Amino acid sequence: PGSPGNASRTTVAGFERARAGGDLPARITPPLSALTRRRARPARAAGRRGSILMSTSSASDVEATEPIMTMGDADGGVAGDTLTAKGRISDCFVFDGSQGRFGYGSAIPGAWCTALTYAPSGPGVAAIDEVMAVVAARRGWSVKAAPHDPTESLEGEDDKVVGFETKDAMFEYMRTFPGRVGMAVVFNATAAAALRGEAEVPITYTALVNLTVGSFGFMGSTGSDPLLAETGSGSLALRAQRAIDEAIVAVRTGNDAVGGASISVTLQQFEEYQPPGLRADEQGIARTLLPLVLYVSMMLNFVLCLVQVVGEREGHLLEAMRYAGLFESAYWATYVCHYTALSVLAAFLSWLTGLICDIDMFNNSDFLVIFFAFFLYSMAMASLAFTLASIIPRRKVANIVSFAIFMFGFILQLVYTIGDGFLQGLFVDPTVFSQDAINAMQLYPPVAFAKVLADVMEETASRYEYNVELQNYEVIPGGTYAWENIYNGTYSNDENEGIASDDPDFTYSTPRTADALGWLFWDCLIFTFMAWYLAQVFPGDSGRPQAPWFLFDPRYWGFMRSRAADAAVEEGDVQLRADKLSKIFGGMRPELLATGQLQELSCTTPFQAVNGLELSARTGQIFCLLGHNGAGKTTAIKMITGALLPTSGDAFVAGARVSDQVDRVRQHLGVCPQHDQLWNELSPYEHMRVFAKFRGLDMSHIDDNIHEALACVKLQAVRDKPVGKFSGGMKRRVSVALSVISGSRVLCLDEPTTGMDPLNRRHVWDLIQGVKRGRVVLLTTHSMEEADALGDEIAIMGKGRVVAQGTSMELKSKYGSGYRVSLVTPQAHTDAVKARVAELMPGAKLEDDSAGSLVYSAGPAQLHLIPSLFEWVESLPGTPDA
Ligand SMILES: Nc1ncnc2c1ncn2[C@@H]1O[C@H](COP(=O)(O)OP(=O)(O)OP(=O)(O)O)[C@@H](O)[C@H]1O
Ligand SMILES: [Mg+2]
Repeated sequence: PGSPGNASRTTVAGFERARAGGDLPARITPPLSALTRRRARPARAAGRRGSILMSTSSASDVEATEPIMTMGDADGGVAGDTLTAKGRISDCFVFDGSQGRFGYGSAIPGAWCTALTYAPSGPGVAAIDEVMAVVAARRGWSVKAAPHDPTESLEGEDDKVVGFETKDAMFEYMRTFPGRVGMAVVFNATAAAALRGEAEVPITYTALVNLTVGSFGFMGSTGSDPLLAETGSGSLALRAQRAIDEAIVAVRTGNDAVGGASISVTLQQFEEYQPPGLRADEQGIARTLLPLVLYVSMMLNFVLCLVQVVGEREGHLLEAMRYAGLFESAYWATYVCHYTALSVLAAFLSWLTGLICDIDMFNNSDFLVIFFAFFLYSMAMASLAFTLASIIPRRKVANIVSFAIFMFGFILQLVYTIGDGFLQGLFVDPTVFSQDAINAMQLYPPVAFAKVLADVMEETASRYEYNVELQNYEVIPGGTYAWENIYNGTYSNDENEGIASDDPDFTYSTPRTADALGWLFWDCLIFTFMAWYLAQVFPGDSGRPQAPWFLFDPRYWGFMRSRAADAAVEEGDVQLRADKLSKIFGGMRPELLATGQLQELSCTTPFQAVNGLELSARTGQIFCLLGHNGAGKTTAIKMITGALLPTSGDAFVAGARVSDQVDRVRQHLGVCPQHDQLWNELSPYEHMRVFAKFRGLDMSHIDDNIHEALACVKLQAVRDKPVGKFSGGMKRRVSVALSVISGSRVLCLDEPTTGMDPLNRRHVWDLIQGVKRGRVVLLTTHSMEEADALGDEIAIMGKGRVVAQGTSMELKSKYGSGYRVSLVTPQAHTDAVKARVAELMPGAKLEDDSAGSLVYSAGPAQLHLIPSLFEWVESLPGTPDA
């Protein structure tokens, strides 16, 4: 639609002038390349960067080996036949000639170009020669008499129609003299016979033309495929085809006077050729894919790291390790070492892969440059993963975020690859981004990484350059990139040196490769620091957040020890004490607590989980916290173990203050958390060893302890099976065994027996009873039976407060409704027994009397009488029947 014809005509006319020595640009620059404005280095000016990671070395990425258009029932022409090498598109092409017919010409000014070649030609196929002679005559070209020798140049014979003996010979010529043919026609084997009227098959031929000119912008604003571009009364290539068809009809009509002919045509793009000296084609795949493969491999590190760290937090595994005595610094150091080792490996393997795939960039550059680029990139991405991990709460979110970042990078990679230097250009052109903006962008590691690789590639990739003397493209092999090259990067005010300016004193400092490497290094430091800082300030669900300014707090650095803590140490054998512990969730507002306004707030605002808890447990004692769901037991334990910062109050464990000596507290602490914090991959035995190592125990004797602990919880049979497959009760038993293994003086067990069958619960009870000597055990439960069986001291919690406290007996006598005594006797003796009980335990109420079964309820008043009742029962002679 519209009037594209005008535009096309104009540009073609312009092209005509250019051929005559006019002003056609020496190089055909694809539009995207034009965006890079000017090449950074003059010697490489004709080259085009392939992808960001690697040069593909191919000057054009246009793939066109499929037939463009097929008419009739052609058999596919010569597609996939020979000429498979990849390289530049032919410079010659058919175009709308000045007489409204088709012409031909080279895109390179002054370059020679043969009008039309065809095959086969020679005595056996005279009819084909005849057809082509007609075409030539109409265009005013001359025909080369005999089939042409493919090794001979046709320079100076531009307006010729040249036949080759075979299709292969013609292709050989086209390969030897690439870009020198306007149009090539291949007739089918049966075409000659059909032309002579000897065979009733369609006359089939394939016309090869250069269809790429449109994409080079030669067709002006239409930018269209020349095949379809309307230019006056028809399209270009179709016009050429029509000339041949008419010639065929003329020849066939002349031969047998039948009139008409069945013609089948395939129009096809010139297959690309490969200039001599270039590498074999199959490398093209490696070159195109390798950047993406390397990208994916580098990103894998990032994705895994992010998901792993977030998962570790979500599963409270870090918390578990902290309980086990792992220092925060050791945790971070381990990750740094782990990812340093991985990154060294990744960098080395990437370099090796590059060498194996024989990529210029890897072959021609200093190992250290490549190594540092990949190593620092991998490290920077891991640090970024850590930073993100500190602010991402859930594994699911981490999955989504890492996928989004992966895809973003992937698309960026594609733009780099396809965009042909577009993004790299941003770095060398000061008018696009300011230096500050470029620096800011390099905070995102992939940008800095891309910059390093772009620089290296710029120097090392082999490329095509038009050689005016040879009137052809030649391959300029890539240079080498030494370590010193990373300090290059300044351009002066020189037309040929990159960036020109009206200011004669202009110099522009292109960011140096060293800067980008430096940025990667800074990225590592900055992100690692941020990760650590954010983890301190936002420790997640259960943690002790530091104030944002904690770095400036001398107490954080261990100066200014508080006196109270030291005083606590002197308190002798009090091993565990909670001092008015309170916890308000959903807002740290201690002033509300003080003024008692908390109750007046709506339920969406702060919630007080623990309210002024006071307890103290001594060595050799099991202190039981008994309470309903949501009573605040876990919250209390978390505050005592240092996992949660209390809103007010403090706890002392073995003389250390939880509020500011949490590391010392944890040295004495063994914890069994309510929800198992176990690594699915590790077996109970491995868990035990890891925890013992965290504690710094003597590993030579640890196996005995492990064996003993596992025997107590009856897990020896599965000690080497991964915990991930265990049942809930089994995992629980692993957690209990883990908490006792370290031999710590204070044990905090949060509902240790939940989910266990009665038998195993007994075993665990025995274990807990067994370890209480010399230790303090703090245990929570909602089972009264358990509290009764284990607790030396029991505190009953309700709604965050301790509502009752004492020994089992005290509690029962104070709050209990008494005991039920059940006696079974032969029915005949019932009355005698009744009389005796009334005597021994006056006031006891008979609740049930049926068939010799008597149930009495003994209230607090009768409590002291129960022993005498038992004594009487025991004194009765013989069997119960007696
Ligand atoms: N992170 C939190 N944010 C807000 N509220 C919380 C948080 N953790 C606990 N709570 C609330 O504090 C109260 C006490 O919880 P806690 O886990 O201490 O109870 P519990 O006694 O251990 O109960 P259970 O027997 O079910 O384990 C509950 O009402 C709970 O909803
Ligand atoms: Mg709990």
